[in-house]
Amino acid sequence: MRHPSARALARPLALAVAATVIPLMSAAPASADSVVVGGFPVEVSESPWTVALTSRDRFGGTRAGQFCGGVAVGRTTVLTAAHCLGAEALGGPPEQVRDLKVVAGRGDLLSGEGREIAVRDIWVNPGHDDVANTGDFAVLTLGEALPPGSAIAMAPAGDPAYEPGTAAVVYGWGDTSGAGDYPTTLHAARVRVLSDSVCEQAYPGGEVGQYRPDTMLCAGEEHGGRDACQGDSGGPLVAGGKLIGLVSWGGECGRPGSPGVYTRLSAVLRTLGWDGGADAAS
Ligand code: ARG
Repeated sequence: MRHPSARALARPLALAVAATVIPLMSAAPASADSVVVGGFPVEVSESPWTVALTSRDRFGGTRAGQFCGGVAVGRTTVLTAAHCLGAEALGGPPEQVRDLKVVAGRGDLLSGEGREIAVRDIWVNPGHDDVANTGDFAVLTLGEALPPGSAIAMAPAGDPAYEPGTAAVVYGWGDTSGAGDYPTTLHAARVRVLSDSVCEQAYPGGEVGQYRPDTMLCAGEEHGGRDACQGDSGGPLVAGGKLIGLVSWGGECGRPGSPGVYTRLSAVLRTLGWDGGADAAS
């Protein structure tokens, strides 16, 4: 069986579709209502800070152009993954994607609920390394404010939510099986923060990618089953009511021994010089 490399999987939806078609035989078993793999459907009102990034021009209308997730950390501030805005994902610089939007308050992508908001400014972490997958975050400034109560607080460095064993939830519209089953509704999966050594062993470097504990966070289930997957990138990993990570990369979705790798929120806060409080980003 051919297993795709983590690099091949560390791609957003559009390219991941091609990448996931090949390893069908080795894909994780499909389950009817997973997220994210191994998850369950959720109402967006339960996680109003989970937003979709869309471009119908670039990704077509079938799923309203959804290609990545994002998370509102202020009424006009959304965090997402830097790789979601890279040329590989978008086919050019993000400024050229004229219909790039943040869709908020809409669980079913094909419904008319919530709002589609234009992106006023895009700041991609200049420290993002596309090959090493480090520094995988970007800040979007919205053209209009989200409703009050839409933003989630970010866990500062040292917050107990980062401790291994902590229960966490990941949200997204990504592949629910690892075989290219993209839902139109928002899903969530319960995972746990795993110790850095689990990801260091799974991702020692080379073909499969390298885990860096200072800027990345390891989460999933030791025995697999629940995980983020292609199309979830940029979306939130939440523990103790606070944001602790952004979906970034991983090996095969939901497989034992290939946990999910997230951008560590405390490293984002450090880079941005934010303190993590509810009003860090206005
Ligand atoms: N890079 C993927 C994306 O762009 C996310 C992959 C997460 N994979 C995982 N096994 N946790 O959507």
